[in-house]
Amino acid sequence: MGQSHAIAEIVPYVQMYRAGLAPEGRPAGVFLLLGPTGTGKTRTVEALADALHGSEKSLVRVDCGEFQMEHEIAKLIGAPPGYLGHRETPPMLTQQKLGAMTSEGSNLALVLFDEIEKAAPSMTRLLLGVLDKAVLRLGDNTSVNFERTLIFLTSNLGASAMRKEVLPDFGFGSAMPGSGDGTLRKLSSIGLGAVKRKFAPEFVNRIDAVVTYQPLDADALEAILDQQVAALERHIAHRLEDRAFALELDASARRFLLAKGTNREYGARELKRIILRKLTQPLAAMVEANLVPPDSVVLAAHHGDSDQLTLSVAESQ
Ligand SMILES: Nc1ncnc2c1ncn2[C@@H]1O[C@H](COP(=O)(O)OP(=O)(O)OP(=O)(O)O)[C@@H](O)[C@H]1O
Ligand SMILES: [Mg+2]
Repeated sequence: MGQSHAIAEIVPYVQMYRAGLAPEGRPAGVFLLLGPTGTGKTRTVEALADALHGSEKSLVRVDCGEFQMEHEIAKLIGAPPGYLGHRETPPMLTQQKLGAMTSEGSNLALVLFDEIEKAAPSMTRLLLGVLDKAVLRLGDNTSVNFERTLIFLTSNLGASAMRKEVLPDFGFGSAMPGSGDGTLRKLSSIGLGAVKRKFAPEFVNRIDAVVTYQPLDADALEAILDQQVAALERHIAHRLEDRAFALELDASARRFLLAKGTNREYGARELKRIILRKLTQPLAAMVEANLVPPDSVVLAAHHGDSDQLTLSVAESQ
């Protein structure tokens, strides 16, 4: 939601791959996703996994924060035979793991390297080989082919400078600086500058697109609220089965959640937290106290300057 420029960068590479026109000897696409926290970088890859494979969990995720020390690379590629602990250190990235994250619908695997700025230099070197030749050589000298993968790198490089850009009056609270093309351009150049300072040119050159995510605007947050409420309703139907009930938020309840959950610093994470605290938890307390009969409708509204939603139960029509 609200990051259509990111989708527009990624989709052509998926289409090229599906059409059989992706270049050989390299990954089908390499993207570096930058931008403030909670704006949908990881969510993009999950949504793509859902679209391609029918499950948002169908992706290989490597948390580079786990590979900050040189010796930890063995966890990624496995220790060479003959090394102490060789058998206890199976490689994390294998051809089999890549294959397991594909589906009948598509054999394109999605690989996400989170927080690459934290990786040890030897990992950056390994990554260079993957981006360049689509090959990763493992400790036991076998290799993993990455031609049928889209690779997503995420980084919070430049994030603090971006934060200053979108929060110029941090500390004064309410005023919301505008987002839009101007902001996006500024954030992009901050991000790219930080990336060029941190990584060698040959690394930057192997990235197909650097995509900067922008702070979520009001429309995007509204759409995300709808998604989250729909997900909660599905959850109620699925988990409570014959005790399930319907949920309705009126305009005042939506306004309250959006006003409370709008936060430039934490993006949609704050909105999700507010939904949990102000809607899901009070709802759970009512269910636990047997106050919600099966098939009823729970109406959520907000009155005056209360800090809570008012939840009331109505008989189903
Ligand atoms: N643009 C968006 N569209 C839909 N949902 C979003 C969006 N941005 C954030 N969310 C929601 O917020 C959650 C957190 O977002 P996400 O994990 O994508 O953040 P991120 O950009 O990867 O942040 P970080 O830099 O901290 O990793 C997601 O699971 C999703 O539910
Ligand atoms: Mg993330």
